[in-house]
Amino acid sequence: MELNRRELLVSSGGVVAASSIGGPVLAQNAPPAPRSAPEPSAPAGGVTALPDNERNISIVTLRDLEAEAQKVMIPFGFAYVSGGAGDEWTMRENLAAFNRWTILANYLSGHASVDPATTILGSKLSCPVITAPMGNQGSVHAQKEVPTVKGSTLAGTLFVESSVSQMSLEDVASASDGPKWFQIYIPESRAFAAEMLHRAKASGYKAIVLTVDAFVTSNRERSTRLHGAPVPTLPMGNVPRTPGVTGNAMMMKQNLDWADIEFCRKESGLPVIVKSILSPVQAVEAVRRGCSAVWLSNHGGRQLDNSPSAITMLPHVATALKGRVPIIVDGGVFRGQDVFRALALGASVVALGRPLLYGSALGGAQGVRSVHEHLRNELIMTMRLAGTSTINSITRDTVTRTET
Ligand SMILES: Cc1cc2nc3c(=O)[nH]c(=O)nc-3n(C[C@H](O)[C@H](O)[C@H](O)COP(=O)(O)O)c2cc1C
Repeated sequence: MELNRRELLVSSGGVVAASSIGGPVLAQNAPPAPRSAPEPSAPAGGVTALPDNERNISIVTLRDLEAEAQKVMIPFGFAYVSGGAGDEWTMRENLAAFNRWTILANYLSGHASVDPATTILGSKLSCPVITAPMGNQGSVHAQKEVPTVKGSTLAGTLFVESSVSQMSLEDVASASDGPKWFQIYIPESRAFAAEMLHRAKASGYKAIVLTVDAFVTSNRERSTRLHGAPVPTLPMGNVPRTPGVTGNAMMMKQNLDWADIEFCRKESGLPVIVKSILSPVQAVEAVRRGCSAVWLSNHGGRQLDNSPSAITMLPHVATALKGRVPIIVDGGVFRGQDVFRALALGASVVALGRPLLYGSALGGAQGVRSVHEHLRNELIMTMRLAGTSTINSITRDTVTRTET
């Protein structure tokens, strides 16, 4: 999550009403978020300017990117992106969960080449990896969301625009011609929520992603230690345009419920995907309520620490949904083998988060493209060694659970 009541106050230049974690911090009459504000300041001694690179990056493994990106990112931007919530147990668990599954090789399949292309809700992808919604990219690169949206299109995949981006959703939409979804944090104001949904439809976004896990400020301690706040204090690109709708409208709705799915569907006329589901029961309910896909996520371990990884819950959700809708999964993906294991356990596509922001910091749009292409190449290698020539042939029997 990248903006809630408390952060709104910080980012709007208002007084921080309280610093309690997760409480319904309210400040009535908070001023609207400004359209421009200074970049977050970096502590003395660190990198002080946002990276503005544009270059291919040479990658051995995505695991190296974090350390490389740290050298060029402003310290607060790095803490914000790299951190998780609480003890960061869930963030580590996202990695550990993959290694409970092994891939069964099949070297005698007779396939000389493989095709990792796929589709999701009508959009063609060069590979089953899409770009996860990530807010506050103004803390990562001088061109804000431009590198990630352009880099995703260059890589032949889909970009998900966060409602708490620094650019407006219209500017993001026109930055590239690839397929895009719009991810919304539902604000208190129904008028503003409806406005954003209408604008997303008008700008060509093909689906709405409703993220439901971030109406509470989580305890992101790396950022708080460094900067005194869990998220950056950047101006928002998606501010209300409806006359009479003020900055208060941007505060997050605290009592999200199932009716919000129907609201998004009705107002946008687009397919709705609910993001941050981790339970089979809730996944089935989401489909009953009209969701066109379900997105399993714990927000990269940034919200509720000690929640399970999406990979752990995926087989249960896949069994419950019986293939009725596509499943998207994210959290801790670094390798083609991770993508393979997620698909084998029932995912239709995987979403990638932090590595793409590191790619943006290191090389702008070309850096983001490099990250996607590296992962795609590793997936191709994995598919070849596992004897699976298409995405549909990556079935449940290509992986097995380890004993440890
Ligand atoms: C810096 C950052 C900002 C994020 N902002 C959002 C957001 O605005 N909306 C959202 O639904 N998820 C957001 N997320 C969560 C991602 O969409 C995704 O669930 C998560 O990053 C996947 O884990 P990974 O980073 O390990 O790949 C954010 C994640 C990061 C790292």
